[in-house]
Amino acid sequence: MALLTVTDVTKNYTGGTTTVRALDGVSFSLDSGAFIALMGPSGCGKSTLLHLCGAMDRPSSGSVALEGRDLAKLSDDALTALRRDRIGFVFQFFNLLPTLTLADNIALPCLLGGMAGADAGRRATEMAERVGIGHRLRHYPQEVSGGEMQRAAIARALVHEPALLVADEPTGNLDSENGARVLALLAELNREMGITILLATHAREVAAAAGLVLRMRDGRFAEAPRPAPASRVPASGVIDALQAL
Ligand SMILES: Nc1ncnc2c1ncn2[C@@H]1O[C@H](COP(=O)(O)OP(=O)(O)OP(=O)(O)O)[C@@H](O)[C@H]1O
Ligand SMILES: [Mg+2]
Repeated sequence: MALLTVTDVTKNYTGGTTTVRALDGVSFSLDSGAFIALMGPSGCGKSTLLHLCGAMDRPSSGSVALEGRDLAKLSDDALTALRRDRIGFVFQFFNLLPTLTLADNIALPCLLGGMAGADAGRRATEMAERVGIGHRLRHYPQEVSGGEMQRAAIARALVHEPALLVADEPTGNLDSENGARVLALLAELNREMGITILLATHAREVAAAAGLVLRMRDGRFAEAPRPAPASRVPASGVIDALQAL
C-alpha cells in the first residue's frame, strides 16, 4: 500500500480580491521507503504541496491520504496524533519555538508522544550530535546561526523516527560541508530505517541523492517523473504518477 496518496489536489490562496492558484491538479503516490525530491522555480508550489502532504494544511479540492487514511475525514485530534506520531516536518523557515532551548525544541516530538523526559533528552542529544549541533543544545534559537537552526529543525523532525519525513529545502541554509552531512544522514535514515522522504530543493546534489525527482511548474508537475541522474535508490515501484501530463 502506498504510504502517501495525493489525488487531483488544488490549493487556492485568497487574499483581498485576488486568488492565487498555488496547486493546479497534482496527483502522485509515494511507496514506503521512497526518497523523492521536488524541484522547480520559486513560487511553483513546492512548499504548498509539502504542507498538504505533511498534514499541515488542507487542499481546496482533491484528497491526501496517509497510510490509507483520508486526512479530510480525520477529526482534529486524530489529525494531530497522526502529525505528531507519523510525520516529521522541516519547515522552510524552521519554526523553532523561541522560548525553548535547542535541546527542548528537538526533544518536543518525543515528549508530546509521551516519552519520559530523560529518554527524550537522550534521543535529542543523539540526533543533535548526528547533525553536528551537540555543542549548541543549551542555546536558544535566536542565539545560534541560521544553519544551526536549520539543523535543529531537521533533528526535531527526525527524533521520533517518523514514517514520513517532509522537508522543505532542508539544506538551503547550510554550507557545503554541513549540507553534505545532513544529506548523508537523510540517505542513511532512508536506507537503514526505511523512513520515507519527500523534500523540496533547489540543489542538484540533494536531488541527486533522491530516487526520483519531480519537477514542478505553475502548480503542476512539469514533466513525467524520472530517476535522478545519480540515483542511489531504484526508481521502479517507488512512485506511480497518476497525473495526465
Ligand atoms: N499564504 C499564502 N497566501 C497567498 N499566496 C500564497 C501563500 N503561500 C504561498 N502563496 C503563493 O502560492 C504560490 C506557491 O507558493 P509556494 O510557497 O508553494 O512556492 P515554492 O515553490 O515553495 O517557492 P520557493 O522556492 O520560493 O520556496 C506562490 O505564488 C505564492 O506567492
Ligand atoms: Mg518554498
